[in-house]
Amino acid sequence: MRNLLDIMDLSTDELDSLIKTALDIKDHPEKYADACKRKKLATLFFEPSTRTRLSFEAAMYELGGNVIGFSESSSSSAAKGESVADTVKVVSNYADIIAMRHPKDGAALVAVRNANVPVINAGDGGHHHPTQTLADLLTIYREKGGFRGLTIGLCGDLKYGRTVHSLVYAMSRYEGVNFVFISPEELRFPRYIIDDVLEKNGIPYLETSDLEEAIPKLDILYMTRIQRERFLDLNEYERLKDSYILTPEKLISAKKDMAILHPLPRVNEISVALDKDPRAKYFEQTLNGKYMRMALILKLLGLDGKPSDETEDTVRDVIYDRFRCPNHRCITTTEQELRQEFYSVDEEQGVYRCVYCDTEIRK
Ligand code: NCD
Repeated sequence: MRNLLDIMDLSTDELDSLIKTALDIKDHPEKYADACKRKKLATLFFEPSTRTRLSFEAAMYELGGNVIGFSESSSSSAAKGESVADTVKVVSNYADIIAMRHPKDGAALVAVRNANVPVINAGDGGHHHPTQTLADLLTIYREKGGFRGLTIGLCGDLKYGRTVHSLVYAMSRYEGVNFVFISPEELRFPRYIIDDVLEKNGIPYLETSDLEEAIPKLDILYMTRIQRERFLDLNEYERLKDSYILTPEKLISAKKDMAILHPLPRVNEISVALDKDPRAKYFEQTLNGKYMRMALILKLLGLDGKPSDETEDTVRDVIYDRFRCPNHRCITTTEQELRQEFYSVDEEQGVYRCVYCDTEIRK
């Protein structure tokens, strides 16, 4: 059975094939209108969402299937103290596939381990958001005709913004891609991803806090919202919230065909005056998300007519209950039954990471 926990669960060939299917769905929706007849998608949203949940639901309806679910944890038994593990065990009896969003990092792994049907991670805390990446990839593909050699600027909250984490994993697989990380010092892109993905593979990247200086180099500018809900200290949020505001004046030095993306919701980081600029692609991006989610549902239900290569489980030596995860947003801090699980990154140096949220500790 296939799940989508993070974007690396899909091979590059599979990403390409999802893009192909999504484009075919866009051009020939009638061919797919009954593809998921009598199938049910459960959308379990423990955290607010507009695009992700509604595009999943629209996707399933347009495939001829049905949808059940909840859009806030207060209307589910989570409000009575039910665990994620129990919730997905129960929902597996009612649905053929689950899309789940949860505020805790690593919650999606708990769901995958306990469900009997495919699980799609629709965002786990500040960790991963692979289906947003599918929307981003289709948008980039449609704008640029491919991925090779692109310079991508990621701007805003690179620490807590899960969409940029997943996007970097995905884009790093394409030749010649390089990254410019634009953020305040406090919200820099996670070191563990830079080490694992960029340093390890010799992929060029630059870290800066200066948006205007970076703009002329970029083929894609991916803006993000400062993630208020993930700050422990709201004073810090207040101090950082207006760090970047993209306005028409700031684009004077940008390439004429630079595409501006944003996973949305926007707060104030892109001025509405830019919405009419032909480079603004964030509303198209939301439509692309629906096509990609349709392609993904077909794939995970085995209805895409292609043989499904099983995802290879990452084989890791896991150490149980020796360390405690220091990340207050980790799912292990709230789910009673979970053991503390760490994998070793560098045994000699004593570097370990939490299996659920990838937070690194040094012992
Ligand atoms: C993003 C998310 O939920 O991470 N939204 C989305 O799914 N399109 C971005 C955000 O909330 O800032």
